[in-house]
Amino acid sequence: MLNEIAFERFLSLFYKKGYNMSELHKNIPFFLQMINSDIESYLIKKLATYQDISYFDEISTAYKHPLNAGGKRVRPLLTLICAGAFSGEAGIETARNSALAVEKIHTYSLVHDDLPCMDNDDLRRGLPTTHKIYGEAKGLLIGDALLTESFKTIAQTSLNRPKYLSFLINELSEGSGVRGMILGQWLDISYTNRNEVTWEQMEIVHRNKTGKLLGTALSLGFLCGADHFKNEIPETKLFELNNIIKEAGELIGLSFQIIDDILDATKSSEQLGKTSGKDEAQNKLTAVKLLGFDKAEKLAASYTDRAKLLLQSLFENTHIINNNINSIYYQKMLLSQIELLLDRSK
Ligand code: IPE
Ligand code: IPE
Ligand code: MG
Ligand code: MG
Ligand code: MG
Repeated sequence: MLNEIAFERFLSLFYKKGYNMSELHKNIPFFLQMINSDIESYLIKKLATYQDISYFDEISTAYKHPLNAGGKRVRPLLTLICAGAFSGEAGIETARNSALAVEKIHTYSLVHDDLPCMDNDDLRRGLPTTHKIYGEAKGLLIGDALLTESFKTIAQTSLNRPKYLSFLINELSEGSGVRGMILGQWLDISYTNRNEVTWEQMEIVHRNKTGKLLGTALSLGFLCGADHFKNEIPETKLFELNNIIKEAGELIGLSFQIIDDILDATKSSEQLGKTSGKDEAQNKLTAVKLLGFDKAEKLAASYTDRAKLLLQSLFENTHIINNNINSIYYQKMLLSQIELLLDRSK
């Protein structure tokens, strides 16, 4: 449901900007379908081997539950479109495993975030949370399974430049691990119920718990795109560009989390597909609490603008090495996708 609303809004954004609809239809719904069918076929293929073992059905269904529950698929979409922005369809094809891997990591982070020992949530993506159905211990295991499987998924990427595989795996681990999402969740817990924490400190929480994985989503797309550059660029240059793209992703993440805090305080559980009002109920420090609605909204918009400017200048600076004719189309699409992230507040 959320998916449909988000994409309707996305389509209307494109209408307003005068993009060619037939081109668009070829791509956005196609991307979503690609992501969902990759999720499905991966599950069937990989777990089917064990079908004679008892509890196969249960673990298989439990594993599918949080993944198939829906979600906006923002991160894998960003990965695929970003790959397209650097190398057109060839980059997108290479990025499919990365897109799937980042959605698995994100889904695991939600399964664990909802556990009774963390945010203790009953509703996610419009359905009961995994632990509500299977119990806390099995909910924990499903999160672990998604995390572990995501590295298997990304390890199976086939590349023109095989050494890029270690870069992909490194990025996934950086964004989701103790220098990224886990650190952010750790700080989130540590700052709960503490009233002296400043907005500057909370921004570090937001940058890590949400921003880093969005940085990873863009970075994986960039690296898969760069795998198709005609002339291999020096590693120092590759990492320099990768750092810029990650910063853009983190800025989008900062905006994304501020909006998440605003939505938590203003929308219903039905609208969100997750329990609203949780932050207040759990005495969480949020952008709304520390800044107020007006300031929070303005700050979110300014982060998005900064991210777009960074991406725009990156696209301009790389158009010589990035010689795929279709990449401009995906660059425009990527910039519009960021607006959609802001738009989900309406
Ligand atoms: C929710 O992420 C958790 C945050 C980092 C704010 P999303 O809003 O992307 O959740 P889904 O994937 O659409 O369910
Ligand atoms: C969690 O932030 C971000 C994650 C890393 C999962 P929240 O706790 O605010 O996310 P929601 O509101 O439950 O989706
Ligand atoms: Mg949380
Ligand atoms: Mg939560
Ligand atoms: Mg939230």
